[in-house]
Amino acid sequence: MTCPVTVLISGEGSNLQALLDDAAIPGAPYRIQQVVCNRPNAHGLDRAREAGVPTEVVDHRDFPNREAFDEQLLAALAARPPELVVLAGFMRILTSGFITPWTGRLLNIHPSLLPAHKGLHTHSRALQAGDREHGATVHFVVPELDAGPTILQARVPILPEDTPDALAARVLVEEHRIYPQAVRWFAQGRLRLRDGRAWLDGSPIAA
Ligand code: GRF
Repeated sequence: MTCPVTVLISGEGSNLQALLDDAAIPGAPYRIQQVVCNRPNAHGLDRAREAGVPTEVVDHRDFPNREAFDEQLLAALAARPPELVVLAGFMRILTSGFITPWTGRLLNIHPSLLPAHKGLHTHSRALQAGDREHGATVHFVVPELDAGPTILQARVPILPEDTPDALAARVLVEEHRIYPQAVRWFAQGRLRLRDGRAWLDGSPIAA
């Protein structure tokens, strides 16, 4: 029996595509059962439809505040309950009202080597900081932004002539590799959040 996964997106959906492609591999331990998006025209919705995956739009502009938006997100999940919720290019800050009931079953990917460069514009900030390397982090989501326990990281070199776009493209290739790996670990029952840390096969993952 495959692990039912719901993916939340906001835009391009390239990480969603990586997950759809990986889940389509025979023997994959998970399936993408629903895609929820906060923007009605996101390209990621086209990707889901092409893959035959049910979609739902919960447009944040229809709600007076974050709490009301998050309540509708929770209702969308309750209508088709997943075992894992994956944020993939999801650009809304979630409240603890959403995160708490899904703690331990909610993942995110962030385009930096956390704890470095939390927040937005990570590629230009890494360049401005003169960092020698950059990358992406898959982590469990906790109420504090981009602060949850790290599950998996990928590192890429920063090259002298790098622009933010060139660096972002290099990082994205790695995102598409590590996110499916982390979801597989969870679906196989190997990855857990316990005592505020990520554990793989019964051992804590080094922070
Ligand atoms: C990616 O860099 C991801 O790390 C960040 O959003 C960007 C776009 O992701 N969270 P996607 O192409 O929409 O999956």
